Amino acid sequence: MDHFNYVDGALCAEDVPLERIAEAVGTPFYVYSTATLERHFQVLDEALSSHMPQRRRLIAFAVKACPNIAVIATLARLGAGADVVSEGEMRRALAAGVPGDKIVFSGVGKTDAEIKFALEHNVGQLNVESEPELAAISRVATSMGVAAPIALRVNPDVDARTHAKISTGGAETKFGIPIDRAAALAQEAAAAPGIELVGLATHIGSQLTELEPFAAAFAKLVEAARALSAQGVRLRRLDLGGGLGVPYQRSNTAPPLPFDYGAVVAKALDGFECDVVIEPGRLVAANAGVLVSKIIYVKEGAARSFLVCDAAMNDLARPAIYESWHDIEPVKAPSSSEPVAPIDVVGPICETGDRFAQQRPLPPIAPGELIAFRSAGAYGASMSSEYNSRLLAPEVLVKGDRFEIIRSRPTYAEMLKRDRVPDWLE
Ligand code: LLP
Repeated sequence: MDHFNYVDGALCAEDVPLERIAEAVGTPFYVYSTATLERHFQVLDEALSSHMPQRRRLIAFAVKACPNIAVIATLARLGAGADVVSEGEMRRALAAGVPGDKIVFSGVGKTDAEIKFALEHNVGQLNVESEPELAAISRVATSMGVAAPIALRVNPDVDARTHAKISTGGAETKFGIPIDRAAALAQEAAAAPGIELVGLATHIGSQLTELEPFAAAFAKLVEAARALSAQGVRLRRLDLGGGLGVPYQRSNTAPPLPFDYGAVVAKALDGFECDVVIEPGRLVAANAGVLVSKIIYVKEGAARSFLVCDAAMNDLARPAIYESWHDIEPVKAPSSSEPVAPIDVVGPICETGDRFAQQRPLPPIAPGELIAFRSAGAYGASMSSEYNSRLLAPEVLVKGDRFEIIRSRPTYAEMLKRDRVPDWLE
């Protein structure tokens, strides 16, 4: 459920018409709904607590999905931690008020500088993805005179049955430690200087629409954890990663409910005493945000018609990269008598892939009118770029009838002044 609905013929974010935001900030822009972010977090939290009332849990929001500090702060107030994959993301989480000990630092390529930064800020858990990384963390922590809390990220070799580019649990991917090597590495970690082995972690992929792959991966993780405890290696935490999918298409059947995901988690961990961490990104943020764009032209091509809008693949890269679907809605509610017709929705960038939708049935939309790309709150703004020297779209957060710019649109002067012309060209 989200809080983007038509009220009196106008698409609103909570109680704010998107048209009003467009007048204030221009287009294109991202807008997030506080109530939706909060609701998604709470539904997940309740799903875990209702199935496992006694177990301590941490929901570490995957910052990469939507790294705006105001968004992270909204979730932090509800008790969320943060899953980060770079010093930049960790800085954002800290700036949003997430305490260091609620931060999980993942990623296959942490540098010495990032490890040091994380330890200086009391990171709760570093997820180790390889033998050389374990050695690096041990070396950095020892030089600082601290013990680094680590979890071994295990690759369970489970097919997440999702898009190949966001599937991370297979043996052929770069992620995690092969499950058959985890026990030996855990023994090594338990004995390594500067290392405190706190748990095991896994993350098999994103936008999972079935629960079976989770169940299979969690079962393997718990089996590995049990085997280690039998050998005297005590693990107090299991980190199950993120990955639960969201409905991108209102007309489609929805992916599994958080409640049922909670049941899968509870069943897998049953009888194994430990805290649980999950790292959801998309589930919390995707349907809490939309990208609003203005139609510049309606173009009649030789074979197709096109809505040319002022947002492009640099603003929302997902359709170009993953051929992903985003529902598109006119901001002014169409009248029921208007017939829909198939049309391509494209941006102004000079690439054929700069296309949000092909042959999408839409009502007539005129130049100057606004459209909203739904489900853009996760991996939307966070994956945007300045490609074609287009300014990054601003971000807006709505709460009830209020809205605030939480990242402003840069100016062209700001864009240009980052470049330097060497003396020899003066
Ligand atoms: N934990 C780790 C270690 C991850 O790598 C990810 C996502 C998450 C948690 C959060 O996964 P989520 O709950 O959001 O599925 N750009 C792609 C998605 C990439 C996901 C990368 N890792 C997209 O737009 O679909």
